[in-house]
Amino acid sequence: MLNECLEALNIDSSGIYVDGTLGNGGHAGKILEQLGEGGMLVGFDRDIDAIQRVGERLRSGAGKRVELVHDNYANMAAQLDRLGIEKVNGILLDLGVSSFQLDEAERGFSFQQDAPIDMRMDRSGGPTAADLVNEAGEQELADIIFRYGEDRMSRRIARAIVEARANGRIETTLELAGIVERAKGGRKGRKTHPATQTFQALRMAVNDELAGIEQVLEGMIGRVVEGGRIAVLTFHSLEDRLVKQFFSRHVPREESLHQGGVRRIYQEPPVEWVWKKPKTATEEELAENPRSRSAKLRAVRVGV
Ligand SMILES: C[S@@+](CC[C@H](N)C(=O)[O-])C[C@H]1O[C@@H](n2cnc3c(N)ncnc32)[C@H](O)[C@@H]1O
Repeated sequence: MLNECLEALNIDSSGIYVDGTLGNGGHAGKILEQLGEGGMLVGFDRDIDAIQRVGERLRSGAGKRVELVHDNYANMAAQLDRLGIEKVNGILLDLGVSSFQLDEAERGFSFQQDAPIDMRMDRSGGPTAADLVNEAGEQELADIIFRYGEDRMSRRIARAIVEARANGRIETTLELAGIVERAKGGRKGRKTHPATQTFQALRMAVNDELAGIEQVLEGMIGRVVEGGRIAVLTFHSLEDRLVKQFFSRHVPREESLHQGGVRRIYQEPPVEWVWKKPKTATEEELAENPRSRSAKLRAVRVGV
């Protein structure tokens, strides 16, 4: 949904734009193309590999200012303070993992290849998914798989994981995928691998993904110029609900007063939806990238 993201941002060529999720740099590159000499792009990724991979390519755009920050976008406001930037014209968040991360076996995000179950976007510290799988209690695992994976067999999967631990640590993606597959009674009749939701759930838990979204929106909504935009592309119903509810609190609604007249109720600053309904992937995009089936793009214009 590259074009829709660009439409949502409605780029001012001399503005300051923040891409909170650089990934493979696709969106950032397109934003940069639309910026003039006075414009600036600030890119975040908590994965140092992403910063290193796209850094040179983005910085080589002559005459334009590019700042890349290796940090969680949850810390965006503090990082912009450090850079001396008070307000920005637009923010883009394209949530989840990049194709690069998924394809790189050693990152442990995928059960297509065997590798240690890492799943950290930022490998500089913190527990891995293997730590979670081997150390969390059965109830905690079931809750994670149910909440983030929306898998109705979460209890059965958690029980199978705990039972398998009795034979030693579960270290690799294929080991884990096999345990989940057996717990769910095999692959029969399924379009996707039976471990898909468990892997997604562990990834979201290990990276504390939902907390970061709330934090960046809270921290940044007051730092977008009047008329500026925030666009968020989600791939999970919980993420989408969080984004929708967050912005809805800032969209003014009118309440009738006893004494007549109306008052507008909203949290500062007021915002307006760019589109009433979220944008979803076109048939063409779906054919090209099946992962886009769950994609939803919501965007707001600040100040109404
Ligand atoms: C779906 S990809 C973005 C793809 C990108 N829009 C492009 O055009 O290539 C998501 C990226 O965001 C990064 N990411 C996810 N959560 C993050 C967070 N809380 N803070 C910073 N980066 C994050 C991931 O490491 C990954 O590289």
